[in-house]
Amino acid sequence: MSAPDRPSGSEGVNRPRQDQALLAVAGLRVSYGRIEAVRGVDLEVGAGEFVGLIGSNGAGKTSLMRAISGVLKPAAGQVRFDGAETTGLASHRMVARGLAMVPEGRMVFADQSVRDNLLLGSFTQLRRDPAGAVAEQDRVLALFPRLRERLDQEAGTLSGGEQQMLAIARGLLSRPRLLVIDELSLGLAPLVLDMLFPVLSELNRQGLSILLVEQMASYALAVTHRTYVMENGRVLFDGPSAELANDPRVMDAYLGRRAS
Ligand SMILES: Nc1ncnc2c1ncn2[C@@H]1O[C@H](COP(=O)(O)OP(=O)(O)O)[C@@H](O)[C@H]1O
Ligand SMILES: [Mg+2]
Repeated sequence: MSAPDRPSGSEGVNRPRQDQALLAVAGLRVSYGRIEAVRGVDLEVGAGEFVGLIGSNGAGKTSLMRAISGVLKPAAGQVRFDGAETTGLASHRMVARGLAMVPEGRMVFADQSVRDNLLLGSFTQLRRDPAGAVAEQDRVLALFPRLRERLDQEAGTLSGGEQQMLAIARGLLSRPRLLVIDELSLGLAPLVLDMLFPVLSELNRQGLSILLVEQMASYALAVTHRTYVMENGRVLFDGPSAELANDPRVMDAYLGRRAS
């Protein structure tokens, strides 16, 4: 398994933090009835930053992403995006403001063509700026040539990796400032991941902010600037990914390596 290159230089971990984060989450709580899945989380993503979120199954990562992207309403706390409070705003409004989410499990429409799945991503842009939306489709399909070859194929017949490409492409077509991806690697072969992670790094180099939830901690730590570690509904700690990759707490629990 080889991990892609870490962003470096002025775009790397030494980038000065922005005065105002693009995304700022404070004291966020999510409950399902009596189950508290997220128990007071603070998290920030700066403009241009590539941030990772790792943690065991059931840590609350997906619940946190759903509350940030407007899929569910938090029980308490605050979400600010692009300088405005967006707590509890519906997901389509978050998309319109520039936050796109690639959900866990990808959620492509299996019985519709790749082309029609992509059209759904372009929906807001097609109304606002039809020419721009077409240009954006070209740009996004250039990132994922396999999708261009399969535009008329039903999305359900794509491989897992191709479905993930489609889910990412669909998210990009709304022209987000922040792309939230929940479990990029789920069920995908290392060979596919070696292709997908560099695309994310390239998008980040082009200015897109990314918040990546990832089970495969080694990949996440290799591509992101900063990483949060979440367990039992809380953030345990966060820090520069390069440092966390050598942190005994991370090595023992998430990298399967004993700290020496
Ligand atoms: N729709 C739901 N209804 C009830 N409990 C849920 C629901 N979704 C998640 N949970 C619970 O919330 C906790 C956090 O889950 P989740 O956010 O999916 O964690 P992760 O993405 O880190 O695996 C788990 O205990 C899970 O069982
Ligand atoms: Mg999850």
